[in-house]
Amino acid sequence: MASGTDWHDTSQHPTRVKRRAHWTSRMGFILAATGSAIGLGNIWKFPYITGVYGGGAFVLVYLGSVIIVGLPLMIAELIIGRRAQENPVGAFQRLHRDGSPWQIAGWLGVASGFVILSFYSVVAGWALAYIFKALVGFEGTADQIQGQFSELVGSPTWSILWHTIFMTLTVGIVVGGIRNGIERWSKILMPALFIILFGLMFYGLFFTHGGMKAISFLFNPDFSKLSAEGVLSALGHAFFTLSLGMGAMITYGSYMKSDARIVQDAITISFLDTLIALMAGLAIFSLVFSYGLEPGVGPGLIFQTLPVLFAETGQLISVPFFMLLTFAALSSSISLLEVVVSYFVDERGWGRTKACLIMGTLIYLLGLLSAVSALKLVYGDWETGFFDLFDYFSTNYMLPVGGLLICLFIAWVVKDKVRAEEFGSAGRLYKATVLTLKYITPIAVLLVILHGLELIPFVEYGQ
Ligand code: PHE
Repeated sequence: MASGTDWHDTSQHPTRVKRRAHWTSRMGFILAATGSAIGLGNIWKFPYITGVYGGGAFVLVYLGSVIIVGLPLMIAELIIGRRAQENPVGAFQRLHRDGSPWQIAGWLGVASGFVILSFYSVVAGWALAYIFKALVGFEGTADQIQGQFSELVGSPTWSILWHTIFMTLTVGIVVGGIRNGIERWSKILMPALFIILFGLMFYGLFFTHGGMKAISFLFNPDFSKLSAEGVLSALGHAFFTLSLGMGAMITYGSYMKSDARIVQDAITISFLDTLIALMAGLAIFSLVFSYGLEPGVGPGLIFQTLPVLFAETGQLISVPFFMLLTFAALSSSISLLEVVVSYFVDERGWGRTKACLIMGTLIYLLGLLSAVSALKLVYGDWETGFFDLFDYFSTNYMLPVGGLLICLFIAWVVKDKVRAEEFGSAGRLYKATVLTLKYITPIAVLLVILHGLELIPFVEYGQ
């Protein structure tokens, strides 16, 4: 539960006069922010899109995107949050003026947190379910094992049950507040995640026959395999995986104390996020190659392909793997909920518990639409499930548009306030970051948005 010293004193005016909670230490902040960044994006999505887009060359573009788009934007979000000491909506007002139109970026962020968490929790629920499936053991023919996934996704009862459990865990942690909830749990989940992943990577590299092949698949670029679409997807993924464009880093930054070292911390977080994605890639592809399987099967890579291999490797590998996935998802889902909750606590004066329970419930209810895969939106010939719709809409539009507004705001609107002092001992990076935020990041982000709209002329759309 929220402790008195841990959160706002809401007996005073809710928005401006308050005592804000702060992380207990720099390490606490880094672990929480890294926890937000490391999630399903790293362990589920990164490996499968790397497989789809052909390996090494895609990885290289992705690394470039993290440095050119991700890092400057993360610095921008942390600066906004730390300076304003407010939730995303309040932060834009505080740094600009009350009623500033830039608060739209904050609203968009809160809305993104709401929508993303609704379907994120459904996938995380599958991960949770798979811990138990792995404990029981995967048995039968490859088709039967793969079929378990369609059964889970196709069963409203099971999907909803796991979604319910996962949302309950998320709300349970966020109710505890910044120090006793988010930071405390990040300090447990992150090291556990690292140890498990290290073990799995070690196993993949040294105890299977696929290790060398996995290394060369990920690190030996073959540019003939790289498509324009791959480049744009790498850019888009850099956003999602670093939790950018929706104010998660503004929110976490707002719990930083003013002597925080933003640039160094942003570098550390981006580095760790990338490291974990690459380690997950190595672990997964070693297994995939050791059984001579295809890396490019798409989203089913983790829930369908791997379980077939886990039938051979046994529980010692499969159970930790799905625990890893669940831990990663949980430390991200709490940051998604925190963005929404911080808005209601700061701006509406709600208590933390009330905000968590009400918003958690509403997000949960929205998630039911994604959990029941049989529910479809039909419009003429066009038909789509809610899950795909929410995923597509948030990753392709909401996060990039939010990111664009954030970088334009910091580079063109509050530019005078962002002085070299924010950069502290990293002063040399100041000019480069501001320049990137002014010109390069907005153009790159604009490309991602146009790509989402399928409007880039040299990319072939329409499969
Ligand atoms: N970064 C998380 C992941 O990789 C997802 C996320 C996006 C979390 C946006 C918070 C905000 O899975």
